[in-house]
Amino acid sequence: MALLARARELEAAGRDIVHMEIGEPDFSTPRPVREAVARVLADGALHYTPACGLPALREAIARHYAERFGARVEPDQVVVTPGASGALLLVLGVLVERDAEVLMTDPGYPCNRHFARFIEARARSVPVDEATGFQMDTALLEAHWGPATAVALVASPANPTGTLIAPGELEAMAAAARDRGGWLVVDEIYQHLVYGREPASVLSRTPEVFVINSFSKYFSMTGWRVGWLVAPREYVPALDRLAQNLFLAAPTPSQHGAVAALGAPCAGILEAQRAEFAARRDFLVPALRELGFGIPVTPEGAFYVYADCSRFTDDSLAFCRRLLEEAGVAVTPGCDFGRHRAQTHVRFAYTTSMDRLQEGVRRLAAFLEGRRKTP
Ligand SMILES: Cc1ncc(COP(=O)(O)O)c(C=O)c1O
Repeated sequence: MALLARARELEAAGRDIVHMEIGEPDFSTPRPVREAVARVLADGALHYTPACGLPALREAIARHYAERFGARVEPDQVVVTPGASGALLLVLGVLVERDAEVLMTDPGYPCNRHFARFIEARARSVPVDEATGFQMDTALLEAHWGPATAVALVASPANPTGTLIAPGELEAMAAAARDRGGWLVVDEIYQHLVYGREPASVLSRTPEVFVINSFSKYFSMTGWRVGWLVAPREYVPALDRLAQNLFLAAPTPSQHGAVAALGAPCAGILEAQRAEFAARRDFLVPALRELGFGIPVTPEGAFYVYADCSRFTDDSLAFCRRLLEEAGVAVTPGCDFGRHRAQTHVRFAYTTSMDRLQEGVRRLAAFLEGRRKTP
């Protein structure tokens, strides 16, 4: 965040900055979504929805699981939330008691450990590296699960690494968590943003799991604040009560927009955006490797590349600062995502156009000239 603020300052002073730090799509929200919401706004019926969401949206989400993933999800298992953030807070609030533990990967999505702290629980870091594709797996879950552990939280594809967990592995992890009296929570926010393979959901393998999702990323609706949670039915009354108390409901216009986002007119637009992300990844990953960054596991999803910069520095934060000041390229230091090998990693986001990515790589090449550490 400090780097983003500095990047904006430099821009205000007239510098041209290539933004490879931003974790949201650069595409506008699809037109059919905006048109649907314009109609709702004109109509003016913008009261609270039920706390678990607009019935039409819960039904549309349940249908989406059946049609896209062959997964059986009933509308009353779907809880609509203010973004995946709202869903994460609800699920941890319902499943995790005070002083209990939540297993999460390091590196991982930074807000997760703060959600745990907020509910007076503890985040237990599971350091991950290339050996497991920068992901938790069943063996790691079992090794780190302790007497106080209530939940293992994973994301597939993940932020910051863009790597996936195979559906069969997720199923085994869900079973291992259930065997220990806890739950697996799978954050599928980047589910549709996968390249060279078909999107998947753990829900097509097992119903014994909590799943988080959102309209923010694939649907290019970050600012609309609408996401969802799929939960085993017996947990829905508690989730409903917590949602009533914490949020009342997700924003009503956004929920109507979300119904449109799942409709047929958006499908082609969204798939074209996915193809554009795929092309950017296919350009960026080899270009970064060529420059000397280590990317041992090719990221297959999201819009991030988590790269080892140890050939250039042992202090990734200082590296990012210099890269911004001297070359006008903004990237995110590893310390934003945890501690494990954070000093030697940076995250590149390909949420900017191909032209700008090419410009970023040109500037990186010039910046790195002569910076390789001598062995
Ligand atoms: C893995 C992951 N989960 C959840 C979120 C929160 O997303 P939302 O905008 O839906 O609250 C993000 C946002 O970057 C994320 O990367």
